[in-house]
Amino acid sequence: MSTCDSSASNTTLANNSLIEIMTGPDNQRKAEQLLSFMLEKGLSFYDEVVTQLDHALQAAELAKKSNANNYLITSALLHDLGHLLLNEKSLAEDLNHEEIGANAMTTFFPSTVTEPIRLHVDAKRYLCTVDQDYYNNLSQASQNSFQVQGQYMSAREIELFEQNSHFEAAIQIRRWDDLAKIKDLTVSPLKTYQVCVSQSLLSIS
Ligand SMILES: [Fe+2]
Repeated sequence: MSTCDSSASNTTLANNSLIEIMTGPDNQRKAEQLLSFMLEKGLSFYDEVVTQLDHALQAAELAKKSNANNYLITSALLHDLGHLLLNEKSLAEDLNHEEIGANAMTTFFPSTVTEPIRLHVDAKRYLCTVDQDYYNNLSQASQNSFQVQGQYMSAREIELFEQNSHFEAAIQIRRWDDLAKIKDLTVSPLKTYQVCVSQSLLSIS
């Protein structure tokens, strides 16, 4: 199977699995189902010291403490959902979790949630390009994944990225993402985000 074929099949797999996870017309129920999926699948390790679930919760907590709106808190919580939908065991290979996750979520969430997620890897590439200290301070795992995520941006890519209407939100998600890797940090439990996620869902989907 070519890279293109495998990307298409991963997209289909992720879209179908999210549709299977989030069923019925009730947004509270869909939010509950999504959080249950995260609880079940989020115990794999993200960055050597935290699980995927720890990482999501720490990112969301940082968003909440910054007084972000519900859409951005939800975006922080779900920014790596693509890893879970892909059932990844390692980050060594780049499977475009940001695109896969954002695409799957467009059925259920508005662009204010999905687009910062789609752009959070580009936000790392952007920050690495404009700020060498940013790259130097990334975790080892994040520096490693940078090598397979397109690396530095060209001047044209920087220009286009800065013009994107979700640029600032994507940078914000990235900053929280980078900080959300603290071993044994106590944070609010996942269920505290159910209302926030539910209120961020599209009303008809
Ligand atoms: Fe992340």
